[in-house]
Amino acid sequence: MKKHYLIILLLPFLAFVAGNFFTRFSFNKSFSKNNVAIKAADLPYNNSIETNSVKEFDLQAAPSTIELNGNEKFETWAYNNQVPGPEFRVQKGDTVKINFTNNLPQETTIHFHGIRVSNEMDGVPDVTQNPIKPGDTFTYEFVVYDAGTFWYHPHVRGNEQVERGLYGTLIVEDPNEPLYSQDKIIVLDDWRIQSDGSLNENFNSRHDIGHDGRWGNVITANGQVQPSFILKQNERVRYRLVNTSNARVYSLYFGELDVKAIAVDGILVREPFNPNGFDLAPGNRIDIDIKAPNKTDIFTIKDKFTTSTNNVFSIQISEEKTEMQNFEYPRAEKYPDMNVSNYIVDQEYALDQGGMSMMHNLRATINSQSYPDYKKTSLESDMFQVIRFSNSSARLHPMHLHGQFFKVIAKDGKQVDEPFMRDTVLVDRYETVDVGIIPIDEGDWALHCHILEHAEAGMMTIVEVD
Ligand code: C2O
Ligand code: CU
Repeated sequence: MKKHYLIILLLPFLAFVAGNFFTRFSFNKSFSKNNVAIKAADLPYNNSIETNSVKEFDLQAAPSTIELNGNEKFETWAYNNQVPGPEFRVQKGDTVKINFTNNLPQETTIHFHGIRVSNEMDGVPDVTQNPIKPGDTFTYEFVVYDAGTFWYHPHVRGNEQVERGLYGTLIVEDPNEPLYSQDKIIVLDDWRIQSDGSLNENFNSRHDIGHDGRWGNVITANGQVQPSFILKQNERVRYRLVNTSNARVYSLYFGELDVKAIAVDGILVREPFNPNGFDLAPGNRIDIDIKAPNKTDIFTIKDKFTTSTNNVFSIQISEEKTEMQNFEYPRAEKYPDMNVSNYIVDQEYALDQGGMSMMHNLRATINSQSYPDYKKTSLESDMFQVIRFSNSSARLHPMHLHGQFFKVIAKDGKQVDEPFMRDTVLVDRYETVDVGIIPIDEGDWALHCHILEHAEAGMMTIVEVD
């Protein structure tokens, strides 16, 4: 009698232990690195491709004089004497070959942001290649597996070199995507201009490192202040927006315009969505399908990320009419379902600022280390894994992982299902962001904050995929 009584008393406890064991067991089974439920084959991109032709370009970085914001003799640095630098348009499967010459007074490299390239073409100094010395040349050559909107920029003293105007775009077209009547790139940047019209050359100030990086006082779209772009009535266009700013985040509003986001960070979305208010952080791209109305009009595209509103560019609907192109919004054919509620965090990256004495240089840290000090972390290829970014600072950190796309699955412990992949995610003040990832490209890949002052102050590490 007594024994039975004991067992009855213990039952809830035993059930609890067994239940726990069970969840743990099934949890491991479904979501550990060994799980096959979320497969690389479900990704909207892959590494098998029919290679096409070789597309060869010459690119030179050098001091240059351009026109900016009314200053006809704006002294800066540029690729091929233009800001933004050249737009390289190629087809999926092409081999891109870029004969690069460094005519800057500093070392440099080029990183092709977002697009998956072989590791030794990734442009990270002392990790994937030696820095290119002034006067030297280097040939970047890689096959493009991904169609979409990408960009390129230096990876040496990015805070200075990108700020001076070294950036350009790489657009990879896919013949299976609809051909819009206009396919236009809009490169957003901001500049810190002094009263005499010249560029403020106090790069990496203590203030900028300690705050949200260098925010400029002049915003440009394709190198112009508040340009106006013309659409015909009923015209349907694809605008590819790229944020090349060192630090500024844009949250764009298109007013009454009929807009849909069709790609983020290069990759087509799972589901087209309303782009109004999307946080376009440094490094991010968003492709927008715009359907012009059937009357003349003018729309001012505004950024409302901060409390003050900025007019960024405008779209003018002309007298001319055309017929609306009629096709479905492009979207990716497949997407992995990363909607898991219980998961193991495989790698955590704690983001923080400083902690150094006032006398020393301010540093930014990942897991308490400041690049070039880092402890290499690793991810396994072809396995679903979860990365956590936990921000314990009062600063913004748009985190970018080279060579991979990932998907946001939770913020501050709450499940989030963004209908798209990314290569850069804005981690807000004191926020924790979890992303799901299935790496498919091996190598040593940089992971860093894309606020370039933070990256320069050490918020960077290396992730090995093997
Ligand atoms: Cu656009 Cu390592 O970055
Ligand atoms: Cu940061």
